[in-house]
Amino acid sequence: VPTPSLMTRQRPLPTRLDTADLLRTTADVAEQIKHGAWTHLLPPGGAWPTDDRWCRQLFADDELDVWAISWVPDRTTELHDHGGSLGALTVVDGALAEWRWTGSRLRERRLGAGAQAAFPLGWVHDVTWAEPGVSPLVTGGTTPGFCAPALSVHAYSPPLTVMSYYEVTEHQALRRVRAELTDIPERPKR
Ligand SMILES: [Fe+2]
Repeated sequence: VPTPSLMTRQRPLPTRLDTADLLRTTADVAEQIKHGAWTHLLPPGGAWPTDDRWCRQLFADDELDVWAISWVPDRTTELHDHGGSLGALTVVDGALAEWRWTGSRLRERRLGAGAQAAFPLGWVHDVTWAEPGVSPLVTGGTTPGFCAPALSVHAYSPPLTVMSYYEVTEHQALRRVRAELTDIPERPKR
């Protein structure tokens, strides 16, 4: 079995943008959503579906696409990468959990409202809804027993075209199980 070598040499990326640009973009759009700038593309009254994930493309050009995604319990995305695209997200409301492949195991982190995450090339992760706090943006979010959707803004550059899916083997390695052409990010597993 060959020993993987570390690629430390800087290679040109297929985009002029970097993850810092994408983090800034998602933070800006998250802020705009909170100030009502995108209501024409969001569910009326902020009533995101409570039984399924929802997503809407807010912006797209040759370099970048930006999405609003809402998350509900029990809708994992499955372990995946983002093909040849860099990505980033900002959590607008609620909370997400991310399991990222470190090279030898999955590491979890929780992303609360305002938290950000960047996805460089080769980033493999699974993202799910996480236990939320008070959710003022979501109608009915304070009803006892009601699991308010989480909302996040995602940006990809170049725009997302393909995602590969993975599983962790019994030997604690990553096995790629399939790739899908898609322009819909963080597609949920059903
Ligand atoms: Fe992802």
